[in-house]
Amino acid sequence: MVADPPYRLSGKETVRSGELVPLDNGDWDHSAGVVADHEFDLRWLSECQRLLRPGGTLWASGTHHNIHSVGHAMQQLGFDLLADVIWFKRNAPPHRRGRSFTHSHETFVWGVRRRDEPYVFNYAWTKQDDDRGDMLKRAGRQMRTVWSLARARNWESRYGKHPTPKPESLMERIILSTSVEGAVVLDPFAGSGTTGVAAVRTGRRFIGIDSNADYILGLAKPRLLDEPGASVQVFDWR
Ligand SMILES: C[S@@+](CC[C@H](N)C(=O)[O-])C[C@H]1O[C@@H](n2cnc3c(N)ncnc32)[C@H](O)[C@@H]1O
Repeated sequence: MVADPPYRLSGKETVRSGELVPLDNGDWDHSAGVVADHEFDLRWLSECQRLLRPGGTLWASGTHHNIHSVGHAMQQLGFDLLADVIWFKRNAPPHRRGRSFTHSHETFVWGVRRRDEPYVFNYAWTKQDDDRGDMLKRAGRQMRTVWSLARARNWESRYGKHPTPKPESLMERIILSTSVEGAVVLDPFAGSGTTGVAAVRTGRRFIGIDSNADYILGLAKPRLLDEPGASVQVFDWR
């Protein structure tokens, strides 16, 4: 399972074309306060835990705005945390106000449904090859917990822009390292369908959920249908 939940960034500022502008990804990304946000994280994580098979693992992403709540909620629910992986965004824009460090990473917490359940980790695959896109990845060496991968490329948004797309290369690495071929990968915050594209491309099946029908129908569905052999069914639960 791979989850890229709301980071609660909206209401803050961002840089667009060199200018500082208010950030608004949508209603879904606004904070409802620390307590309510944590309750939300507990709710969706407990649903993920309910749906995972024994030994199933979950990857959840975030920045300092939400990741501590997510990690703590996973611990409260009894997930066994296996690692956190830093995605180093080497082309991150500078901090415009100069009042903090350049925010240049996101964190992924990786955990198994319950302690002592055997989980999938494709160790041989992780050591296999160099990755020309990641100078930190070396053939024959254990893969480290810092991954240096570029942000999503423009062509990954060919069906329109989602405000917070993940790069396909990152999702492919997550799926290839921690699931088996033919597995079902579920993403409860699917957005533009990046996890789905990575899943289909690596021989897995995919279930994606999103509260925004425009993202599912306008972005994720046509993008998935671009993948050779992919078929897509959309269910409307409203
Ligand atoms: C950070 S984005 C995910 C982006 C995705 N990883 C991609 O590459 O396009 C979070 C997504 O969660 C969706 N979302 C927010 N609240 C939700 C909820 N309660 N249930 C389902 N989806 C939700 C938003 O519509 C948004 O598309």
